[in-house]
Amino acid sequence: MSLYQIMYISSAQGAVSADQCAAIARAAGVRNRMADVTGLLLFNGKRFIQVLEGPRPAVESAYERICRDERHRGVVKLRESVIDEREFGSWGMAYDDPARPSDSLKDKVAALLDQANASTRAHFIGSAEMHRR
Ligand SMILES: Cc1cc2nc3c(=O)[nH]c(=O)nc-3n(C[C@H](O)[C@H](O)[C@H](O)COP(=O)(O)O)c2cc1C
Repeated sequence: MSLYQIMYISSAQGAVSADQCAAIARAAGVRNRMADVTGLLLFNGKRFIQVLEGPRPAVESAYERICRDERHRGVVKLRESVIDEREFGSWGMAYDDPARPSDSLKDKVAALLDQANASTRAHFIGSAEMHRR
């Protein structure tokens, strides 16, 4: 079966702590594993950027659920396509604590993006730098 990938960006609704973001990612990881969905979630204290990839129906239904989630708003799909192979073999995430922004976020993101293509890397590295402090 062909694989599908969706990338989107959104803004946190109100204050989302690093702990809350870690809880979102943990729950997402459990569901995604069951659905054979992999990808990456990045939170920089204000914005989320996420890639979801896997069987198309699983990716689309996860995306629809995520769009309805009131913990974020202004969801904008950046990219959507059939892909030949996964860019993220497993589920990963990187987040910044809004109270204590870390200069190492960019390095963490770069490590997670090791297998990703240049366009995906550019989106994520750019987002990691976005709205810091
Ligand atoms: C930024 C963000 C990313 C999320 N990513 C995922 C995800 O990758 N997979 C997933 O199943 N749920 C994810 N969720 C949670 C879903 O929005 C939803 O709460 C969850 O799937 C349960 O849906 P349900 O209450 O309709 O069963 C995410 C939520 C947010 C706010």
